[in-house]
Amino acid sequence: MPSNWNIQHFTEIDSTSTWLKNEQANLPDFTVAVADFQTAGRGRLGRRWVAPPGSALMFSMLLRPNWPVEQGGWLVMIAGLAAANTLRNQSQLPIQLKWPNDIVFEKNGELCKLGGILQEAETVDGRISQVIIGIGLNVNLDADDLPQATHTPACSLKSLSGQLFDRNTLLEDLLSNFETLYKQCAAGESPQAQWERQLVTLGKRVTATMTGTNDQSQKINGIADHVDEWGRLVIKTDEHELKAVSAGDVTLRTD
Ligand code: BTN
Repeated sequence: MPSNWNIQHFTEIDSTSTWLKNEQANLPDFTVAVADFQTAGRGRLGRRWVAPPGSALMFSMLLRPNWPVEQGGWLVMIAGLAAANTLRNQSQLPIQLKWPNDIVFEKNGELCKLGGILQEAETVDGRISQVIIGIGLNVNLDADDLPQATHTPACSLKSLSGQLFDRNTLLEDLLSNFETLYKQCAAGESPQAQWERQLVTLGKRVTATMTGTNDQSQKINGIADHVDEWGRLVIKTDEHELKAVSAGDVTLRTD
């Protein structure tokens, strides 16, 4: 395990991200809260994150990067890369990423969601003073225990491979991967190229909806063309324009 991670383990907690948020004043940079079970796990867009005790890898990292705010997108990119690289290495399954924050598996053109990332950042004077990155990965869930999803169905490493995986080994590997990528970002290197290679989203037809509104005029329809160096998705619209959308501003549907 890398020496500078301060790992706090919980058998049961409301949410590892909420715990870090409440305790952050007393905690050092590079603290990791990991739980076997969450009673109030949180996903993006106000969704819940649920998994039976001991089945999923659920943890949150507290970081104080002090990077310029534009580099905020890099954190979710490297969290996704670290997670996908780890799951792929351990399972030999061709695991990929879906913009902006999902870890997915694609079979016969159908996607299923293995995990997701919840990033909550604070900025001071144009710099990221603190960020809590929560990662939830469906590892040893049986097919019957997978949460029902309205859009991308859920899957687990076990439901895909029939095998069980050691969650501690996955966590160690993931943190080590993340640390390498974090150092590259701290040196000013964008993870864009690596990330783009793993995105299933590119070349697909997408609808980006501005978060918080159902107004039809706020929808962008087109083909996901590429990501820019900050991790924004550039969509070639049906009107033949290029429009860049940020993870925080839109929800994305792939058709
Ligand atoms: C998503 O796909 O919407 C993101 C899910 C993030 C879930 C993880 S589990 C560990 C951490 N604690 C939480 O309450 N949420 C994140």
